[in-house]
Amino acid sequence: MDRNPGATTPSSHFPGADRAHAPMPDFVTQRVTRFYQERYEATWGGKLIFHGRTPEATDVVLQSNDYLSIANHPDMARAITAACQPGHDVPLMSAALLLPGSPMHVMEDVLARFLGYDEGVLAQSGYLANVGLLESVVESDTPVYIDILAHKSLWDGVRNVGAPCFHFAHNDTDALRELIALHGVGVVVVDSVYSSNGSLCDLQQCALAAEEGGCLLIVDESHSLGTHGVHGEGLVASLGLQNKVHFVTASLSKAYACRAGFIACPKSMNLYIRSTSSPAIFSSTLLPTDVAAIEAAHQLVISGDARRTRLWSITRYLRDALSALGYPVGIGSEQIISFEIGTEPAVMRLRDVLENDGIFGSIFCPPATGRTRSLIRFGIHAGLTDAQIEQFLRVCKSRRDEFAPETWSGSRFLPTPHGSLHGNAA
Ligand SMILES: Cc1ncc(COP(=O)(O)O)c(C=O)c1O
Repeated sequence: MDRNPGATTPSSHFPGADRAHAPMPDFVTQRVTRFYQERYEATWGGKLIFHGRTPEATDVVLQSNDYLSIANHPDMARAITAACQPGHDVPLMSAALLLPGSPMHVMEDVLARFLGYDEGVLAQSGYLANVGLLESVVESDTPVYIDILAHKSLWDGVRNVGAPCFHFAHNDTDALRELIALHGVGVVVVDSVYSSNGSLCDLQQCALAAEEGGCLLIVDESHSLGTHGVHGEGLVASLGLQNKVHFVTASLSKAYACRAGFIACPKSMNLYIRSTSSPAIFSSTLLPTDVAAIEAAHQLVISGDARRTRLWSITRYLRDALSALGYPVGIGSEQIISFEIGTEPAVMRLRDVLENDGIFGSIFCPPATGRTRSLIRFGIHAGLTDAQIEQFLRVCKSRRDEFAPETWSGSRFLPTPHGSLHGNAA
């Protein structure tokens, strides 16, 4: 990502920029040059927007999606280490389609049952789970209805198929209904918790709209699997919506702290998806170490009530305190808290000040956000200490007037009308 891919660009900051390469055609050179001139130099001031200071041990780092703080749990390391000892499954470097009877399928059944579905498909990532599923169920003339804030992998899945795609305003189920009435039976695609701002989908209403319109419903639970529901089973299961939601997908790189994706599906769909989606056919499957990590993570998730309780008490405390200070965090309600300031230069300045004060979030900017809706995203996690939480709030309080959050783009958006639905939060 941070290498100049060749051609003549205005940037000499990158090693290899002047090395001789095969000449690029103009259409590529123009794109690359535009990136360096317009974004890298003019907008970002000759720095990479994603790279600020490197955090130190005393800093408060809120950049991960390891919401339950299990990534460093010794059980994870033990499981992964054991899976690569001699005598264990030899990794078969092949597509999942060609590996019937793989131990991976046992884990698929376990996860499917956990989510309340008949079958499941493990994928190499959440991105590929979404792209693969959409390829398997959407035809090139199937209308797809998608929330404007749905994850890029869902949009890419629709685009790959070439299906007509109709987006509706974030969480606007009236608009969804109107679109279905206009364009007919198709596929509705939403996230359960939105990754940029922690807002919650009104799943009941979405499910109703999809059902009334005779549509298939896909819910991406990447940011609610493991964290939401009584034992982390996610929102669809905890709301009992499996009879209305046809497929649940999830990245297992969030609360599960692994490197994989998952599709929960009805009967007969495992074989079908595995036999018809390109990621399952044309890309090698997970390694035994990946599956071992998922198994260990699953045990930590289902026994993680205390971690979930801690996560929700921190989330609620921080959200209330930040709102009281005048920060516009009310569009979301869950464990992702965003400071949506607006432009890319503004978000870089905000990041620099926060990092200088020892607070580390992640920048989200185009194409992950709208052009004037760049933000810093804080992933709250159960491992935060009280001292770290207070450190975060102390900085937000002392810098409040300087930051002027009432001028941020996030202030233009109203709080979500939905209540919070996480299982353990009393
Ligand atoms: C909602 C959502 N879906 C899918 C993905 C893709 O997951 P992965 O990183 O496992 O490819 C992400 C990760 O950014 C996500 O936030």
